[in-house]
Amino acid sequence: MRFLTAGESHGKYITGIIDEYPSGVQIDINFLNNELARRQKGFGRGHRMSIEKDTIEIISGVRKGRSTGSPVSFIIKNRDWNNWKEIMAIFPPASVASYSNNLKDRPPEDLKSKNGRLLNPRPGHADLNGYIKYRLDDIRDVIERSSARETAARVAAGGFAKIILKLLDIKVISYVNQIGKVILSRDPEISDISEDTLEEIEISEVRCPDREVSQKMKEEIKRAIENGDSLGGKFKVIATGVPPGLGSYSQWDRRIDGKIAQLFMSIPAVKAVEIGDGFKAPGVTGLNFHDEIYYRKGTGFYRKTNRAGGIEGGITNGEPLIIGACMKPVPTTAKGLRTVNIKTKKGEMSLKERSDVCAVPAASVVGEAMLSIAILSSIQEKFGKDNVDEILENYKNYREYLGKI
Ligand SMILES: Cc1cc2nc3c(=O)[nH]c(=O)nc-3n(C[C@H](O)[C@H](O)[C@H](O)COP(=O)(O)O)c2cc1C
Repeated sequence: MRFLTAGESHGKYITGIIDEYPSGVQIDINFLNNELARRQKGFGRGHRMSIEKDTIEIISGVRKGRSTGSPVSFIIKNRDWNNWKEIMAIFPPASVASYSNNLKDRPPEDLKSKNGRLLNPRPGHADLNGYIKYRLDDIRDVIERSSARETAARVAAGGFAKIILKLLDIKVISYVNQIGKVILSRDPEISDISEDTLEEIEISEVRCPDREVSQKMKEEIKRAIENGDSLGGKFKVIATGVPPGLGSYSQWDRRIDGKIAQLFMSIPAVKAVEIGDGFKAPGVTGLNFHDEIYYRKGTGFYRKTNRAGGIEGGITNGEPLIIGACMKPVPTTAKGLRTVNIKTKKGEMSLKERSDVCAVPAASVVGEAMLSIAILSSIQEKFGKDNVDEILENYKNYREYLGKI
């Protein structure tokens, strides 16, 4: 499967199109809506999340609850649009035939949004680059699409992928292991991640499996709020039950690690992606890094360690996939940073926009979606794209083959 999204942060809808989604999949709408709700949570989110109650409306590609193999398209309504109808109007008011490219010709009332035109780009956001690249005259046009509100559509697309992964007993989970300076000192062993641990992560307002650390993370976020500042952090996404043999070393663009890294790097504010112990690797010798190979009848080949994060040579090796991601602090801050007014060229403070102070917990849910899409698209490459039963049959045969080697 591949997907595209469209829609502005305060436009009417966020939209998604999934292409090559197999036919015959029973779509659980409650599951999709629950995934959207998980993305909306997290201590440190802005007021916007209390306005939105994201739910998906499927527009095409599903009939009587089952996917048909046609492109799946869906919308997620922006409730806040009601408050932004004028600012986000697709066409100018009837009194104005069309906007002139020349700002001087434009009637002043049409140039003004409720807050006036936005002219002070935020360092760390897309504002200045988008304004330059697209020759815009209001940073609002950049903000609306570069906003991470778009990730709602990614989570919905990831939900569609997860529905198929569940049928293959592949599970994708995530948790937060750092917010600002507060670090979860020891990641839980994957074998120790029980249903209780998962419950703890879902209950935690920062998606951290340790209650004490969760509390410290919340305090760190409170301090940032008090200081008019913002925070980033780290999160991990883990997939268990992934078979060996997804991806390939035979071409650079078929490596599954490359695919995963691209998907994770595309999450707004993610600045580094780690596979397994990738960040530790430079300081460890080969004898102490690589995961030794063992064999047991019935189990087949296996490892006692998983520093490779489940991928060697661009191919999954049958161990859990472990992906870490570092998120920079949110660019919008209550205090603001020094910037330059794009019209007057004078030094001013950056624009204020309603904003999250910390969005690492939400980003970890987006990470789950990205990893699910990477895995499903690799599964489809190997086991078929068209129909879910075809995929399940081919997968079963492959599992039988694995049992024999
Ligand atoms: C779930 C999520 C929520 C975010 N919320 C905000 C926000 O409220 N305010 C903000 O300035 N940035 C927010 N960001 C980060 C920006 O979208 C991101 O920094 C910006 O698009 C620039 O892209 P870059 O940081 O990848 O260069 C959020 C990111 C994610 C993943």
